[in-house]
Amino acid sequence: MKHRIGFIGTGEIAIIHANSIRIENPEWEIAGGYDVIDSACRIFCSIYGGRIYQSVEALLQDQTIDTVYICTRHDSHVTYSEEACKNGKNIFLEKPVALNYEDARKLLKCWKQRPVPFTVGYNMRVTPSILLLKEKLEEHNAKPEAFRLNMTGTPFMQGWAGDERYGGGVLVCQGSHMFDLIAHILKSPISEICADTQWLHQPKELEPNSAIVLVKLENGVCGTLLMHDRGNKSYHIEPGGGMINFTIYSEQGTYDVDAYGRLRYGTNDELVSIIPSGQNDIEYRWGYRNEASQFSKLLASQVTSICTLDEAVNAAAVVEAAKKSVREHRWVSVVYG
Ligand SMILES: NC(=O)c1ccc[n+]([C@@H]2O[C@H](COP(=O)([O-])OP(=O)(O)OC[C@H]3O[C@@H](n4cnc5c(N)ncnc54)[C@H](O)[C@@H]3O)[C@@H](O)[C@H]2O)c1
Repeated sequence: MKHRIGFIGTGEIAIIHANSIRIENPEWEIAGGYDVIDSACRIFCSIYGGRIYQSVEALLQDQTIDTVYICTRHDSHVTYSEEACKNGKNIFLEKPVALNYEDARKLLKCWKQRPVPFTVGYNMRVTPSILLLKEKLEEHNAKPEAFRLNMTGTPFMQGWAGDERYGGGVLVCQGSHMFDLIAHILKSPISEICADTQWLHQPKELEPNSAIVLVKLENGVCGTLLMHDRGNKSYHIEPGGGMINFTIYSEQGTYDVDAYGRLRYGTNDELVSIIPSGQNDIEYRWGYRNEASQFSKLLASQVTSICTLDEAVNAAAVVEAAKKSVREHRWVSVVYG
């Protein structure tokens, strides 16, 4: 019997995951999907197969479905994940866990009562160049001391992503991604945050779409983070483009990675530049294919580096501290669990 996947939310990212599944886990079968917009689901099923479910309950109660991919707006992540836990499904939840930390913790509590295999889609962890960065940091036994990181995107926060009811703006959309990446690569929880936000060509009735953040980690590493959605198409597709840049400083050398392209590392004496070999499709370069294959390993109880629910809830705690810092104009300690 094939492993069967149901999609809840069949928009842009669902299509990317379905493409990744087709390539990496061809033994899986897409059972269909549910979307509040019927036509979105119809298009999805016409490409990837399966049936259109008339409600989320109908999809979750289908005993032939093993795993659900939850790819909706942020406001429904907690409710759908809780229902999926109760129905015993394996869960791939797109980031972030929730619009706020309180809801994220509520889901964690529910999951602990019904601990199904669960991952959250922080794909930056497993882009080819970030995996290479991790490999080199380990190989050189590098001890990071400071970093700078930035994330851009094409303008996307003028839609639901910038609405506080559905998306949450820059700190929720991009911040949670980057806080997870920082803690994962630098191997330490974030301890303190000082943040401010800005509206860049963004209507004031929406949440800010830009943020500057100072970050301190428990292990003593410190760094800066800049995020906004004022990039253009070329940021996404140009090899070596700068949608994400992560520079890590250590006594063993400087490591500089464009998460979707090139890694450079070295000292004054030697500089090495590597572009990970492989395909040039978005699914590969942005880590979604690695996510699909690692999720399959997780379901086979193997060790992976994809994000657990606990870790994703920690990212929500940092977002909460960053929001408080913006409101109170001061450094704020991150309070976990
Ligand atoms: N990891 C990444 O790199 C990455 C990139 C893009 C988006 N995302 C995340 O993926 C999720 C979806 O984003 P997207 O870009 O695909 O958005 P999208 O708007 O293209 O698609 C979302 C789909 O969900 C549907 N939907 C919304 N609310 C629903 C509900 N309550 N029940 C059922 N369907 C509902 C919409 O009709 C739409 O078809 C978000 O969590 C977003 O943050 C992650």
